[in-house]
Amino acid sequence: MEVVILKSADEVAVYAAKLVGVLLKLRPDAVLGLATGSTPQALYRRLVTDYREGKISFKDVTTFNLDEYLGVAPDNPQSYRSYMNRELFDLIDIDKQNTFLPACKEDENPREVGQRYEEHIQSAGGINLQILGIGANGHIGFNEPSSSLGSRTRVKTLTQQTFHDNSRLFSSDEFQPTLAITMGITSIMEARKILLLATGAGKADAVGRMIEGPITAMCPASILQMHERVTVLLDEQAAAQLQNRDYYDWTWLQNESLKKRFGVPDDS
Ligand code: GLP
Repeated sequence: MEVVILKSADEVAVYAAKLVGVLLKLRPDAVLGLATGSTPQALYRRLVTDYREGKISFKDVTTFNLDEYLGVAPDNPQSYRSYMNRELFDLIDIDKQNTFLPACKEDENPREVGQRYEEHIQSAGGINLQILGIGANGHIGFNEPSSSLGSRTRVKTLTQQTFHDNSRLFSSDEFQPTLAITMGITSIMEARKILLLATGAGKADAVGRMIEGPITAMCPASILQMHERVTVLLDEQAAAQLQNRDYYDWTWLQNESLKKRFGVPDDS
């Protein structure tokens, strides 16, 4: 794991956008795995700015989102489809026909939707870069603690903690779902490169367990220790509980000077 600790959430967004930009230069038709939640919003804002300034284009990009609520129609402002349109897709030059979420219509079987989503990702050539956030309990996508580390896209029940954490986004008269369809842990692990963003003190415990704890289904993000190409971007607050901090800073400095000398590795 490459652990990069930056001063602020804003620096995390700038750095993440830079990595996305490098990928899109190398591979304009990249397949991106996208996440929702508050954390990637700053990254999306940055990408929109870079697009407006002519630095990047999403014209040939395909995207697959990690998850979507079950029982929330795409045009409901609370759906992750609405979130993605609002935060990114409506603001860039992406062809919306090439943007996908594991949404399940009322008359569809969620199991089949999950299977089709997996096949769809495969037929698009797999994910080049997967953006991830992390839940305060260590979840990735909606793979809650105790999720099978071998799981694929399927229905998951949100934990009470996640339900509570996300309740800030729903008004009291709004339906708040307890079920979602999420890419599984194995689906996420198949991405060629993973970029996990975590900011704020509320993530410090989960980040510590993900990076320095044992690999366990009780902290689903800890499986990322098994992935060859993961970059974890943290702000100071999210990094606060790391024991091995000096080493991560030292390694990052060495890597940056390597990149200056030999160029950024081909992340395509
Ligand atoms: C949500 C999403 C995750 C996200 C996480 C953290 O429930 N399903 O993909 O990473 O929770 O969200 P936030 O960034 O708002 O803390």
